[in-house]
Amino acid sequence: MAATTQVLGMDLANPVVVGSGLLTDQERNIRRLLASGAGAVVTKTIHPNPPAGLDERIVRLPTGMINSTTYSKRSVGHWVDVLRGLARDGLPVIASLHADSPAELAELAARVEASGCRALELGISCLNEEDGLDDAPERVHAYTAATRAATRLPFSVKLASGEGLHARAFAAARAGADAVTLSDTLPAAAVHPETGDLRLGGVFGYSGPGIKPLVLASLWKLRNAGFPLPLLGSGGVQSGRDVQDYLQVGAVAAQVYTALHTDMGPTLVRIVAEAAGEGDAGRRPAPVTGAGRPEQVRS
Ligand SMILES: Cc1cc2nc3c(=O)[nH]c(=O)nc-3n(C[C@H](O)[C@H](O)[C@H](O)COP(=O)(O)O)c2cc1C
Repeated sequence: MAATTQVLGMDLANPVVVGSGLLTDQERNIRRLLASGAGAVVTKTIHPNPPAGLDERIVRLPTGMINSTTYSKRSVGHWVDVLRGLARDGLPVIASLHADSPAELAELAARVEASGCRALELGISCLNEEDGLDDAPERVHAYTAATRAATRLPFSVKLASGEGLHARAFAAARAGADAVTLSDTLPAAAVHPETGDLRLGGVFGYSGPGIKPLVLASLWKLRNAGFPLPLLGSGGVQSGRDVQDYLQVGAVAAQVYTALHTDMGPTLVRIVAEAAGEGDAGRRPAPVTGAGRPEQVRS
């Protein structure tokens, strides 16, 4: 297939990128996802000092999933070896990185660059750490600028939709990011029907189809505000139609993650085919009736 999409300096065969998560915490899965047609795969976020002892789980909801996971528990040394092998095979893999401080992230980025890996995503917006995430433009600027000073690799900064997004995104751009990925999971809670307690014990990251309209809105608003960098959409992709929706509002590629927790390989094959216009939910116009059409409100 001819290359169609430029993402972080790489020519991808298609705009469907597998996002960072539990499924991309293993080399074997990363290779399987690429063999199933992913344009690129983002690794689980690599962290030199991932939190220990947290209860990391997922809860499925009708509209998606809440997860309390944080970072890969595999060592940086392990990941550098894996990334070296993937790079040697010429595979389009994006290493997701985070650390406890900008200086530590810069050091990690330089180490990963030496593996031959060709692109990075800064996974700095996970809200599942013990203190949650109180994100601010200054914080985004500090992590981005330190990484920019340490590596020549192209990198995207992953942000979460929500309050102050424009200031955070423009801070990433000013500090030297090459792209922005939108969105990480969003804060959400579910109540246990029997105990009345919050499932997973608190507020954690929400993903899947329920967040897609919110992320589309954020992307569209950023584009309309003249945001200067390429945007990668992430949130609720389940079909080729969803991929097209992200491209339509100005993303260069769309990431898919939660949908792959059901029949990983076949689901990805279907989404890639649909996005290329080969399936029912590809480039065709929306059906005449059905969900998504505006309804007239009678008074
Ligand atoms: C179980 C799970 C683990 C995740 N782990 C990471 C991670 O380590 N780093 C990261 O940047 N995003 C992580 N994400 C967020 C996804 O990459 C993605 O941005 C988000 O879920 C929205 O896309 P989706 O609705 O297609 O899942 C995780 C999501 C889930 C559901």
